[in-house]
Amino acid sequence: MVAPVLPSLEAALRADLVSLEAQHRLRSCAAVAGASRTSTTVDAQPLLSFCSNDYLGLSDHPALASAAADAIARSGFGSGGSRLVAGDLPEHRELEAELSAFLDVEAVLLFSSGYQTNLGVLPALAGPGDLVLCDHANHASIIDACRLSRARLSFYRHLDLSSAQKRLFALAPTARRKLIVTESLFSVDGDIAPLADLAALATKHGAALVVDEAHAIGALGPGGRGLCHEAGVTPDVLVGTLGKAFGTAGGFAAGSATLRKYLVNRSRTFIFSTAPPPPVAAAALAALKIIRGDEGDARRNALASRVLQLRGRLSQLPCRSPRSPILPIILGTDRAALDASRVLRTHGFLVQAIRPPTVPDGSARLRITLSASHRPGDVDSLAQALARLIPQ
Ligand SMILES: Cc1ncc(COP(=O)(O)O)c(C=O)c1O
Repeated sequence: MVAPVLPSLEAALRADLVSLEAQHRLRSCAAVAGASRTSTTVDAQPLLSFCSNDYLGLSDHPALASAAADAIARSGFGSGGSRLVAGDLPEHRELEAELSAFLDVEAVLLFSSGYQTNLGVLPALAGPGDLVLCDHANHASIIDACRLSRARLSFYRHLDLSSAQKRLFALAPTARRKLIVTESLFSVDGDIAPLADLAALATKHGAALVVDEAHAIGALGPGGRGLCHEAGVTPDVLVGTLGKAFGTAGGFAAGSATLRKYLVNRSRTFIFSTAPPPPVAAAALAALKIIRGDEGDARRNALASRVLQLRGRLSQLPCRSPRSPILPIILGTDRAALDASRVLRTHGFLVQAIRPPTVPDGSARLRITLSASHRPGDVDSLAQALARLIPQ
């Protein structure tokens, strides 16, 4: 047997894992079980979870389950291939049409996840010779997508318009195409981009604006239409995910019919990947029907009141966006964040420690996310546990 390569790889991987563990950066997945994303169990211990992005509590909604079951009966489970090869199924077409109407855009293109959406959109729109301006706190999928594009990538300080403007003044004149990319509601900071100002800046410099509304669509904005809608901003590309407030899985890019046609022809994660399974698309459509109706309003109101309740109880924490369902509690060291998460677990709460490289060094934190499925009593008991843990 010839074997020296694999053992040395194995040794290198082990050494890397040992070093991650020594830095308190080793990650592993909690083995949760159960249909609910808020009341869960880990190793048979019942826990109240405050870490899913199921903001409206739709992931175990019976309407989604029955839409998925109907779609399996009608269209089967797997989509069988990429849509350009295996064809479009009615579930894909209907979801795209309804999302377009909901977001008031000409067209929507579905992807298999939000991550794949960013990875498909940005490298299709920008390449060598182009400039992408990126908020420093943007999600990993945006940063990876920017790097993949091979455009010149310049980071501006988080939410800082003048930092973005300086970079545009300095770099735009030599760039062919210019893009500004931001999240609307930031995934680990829970704050909100100055969307109207960024849109004005983009227009002034002839740049396109790409806004990732992964955490906002469904949960925030008029009728759950997101923060661009609320700010009266029409980005050139709106990116969304179906894995958070929609309680399902998948992602989408929304914009003009030309954009959609272009992405169908140029976006590698669309062209070279199996289309979302029809039951997943059907469940997302069922979620959309809830989101845009009275039940969606009721769930958003419940979410907003849980957010107010927890913020009221943790008033000592800095708060940049009072209505965000994402509440970071920055503890500094990785060790401190891990310890806090462990203590909460012993008190019956699942709250994950978020550490570098997800967040900058020295800003490890607990990331608390609220859901319409949390009961007021759940939030009260979490607030009590946190009050014991966080210095007042
Ligand atoms: C801003 C942002 N964009 C994209 C994604 C990826 O979405 P998905 O989980 O659907 O892949 C995430 C996930 O957390 C996110 O926070």
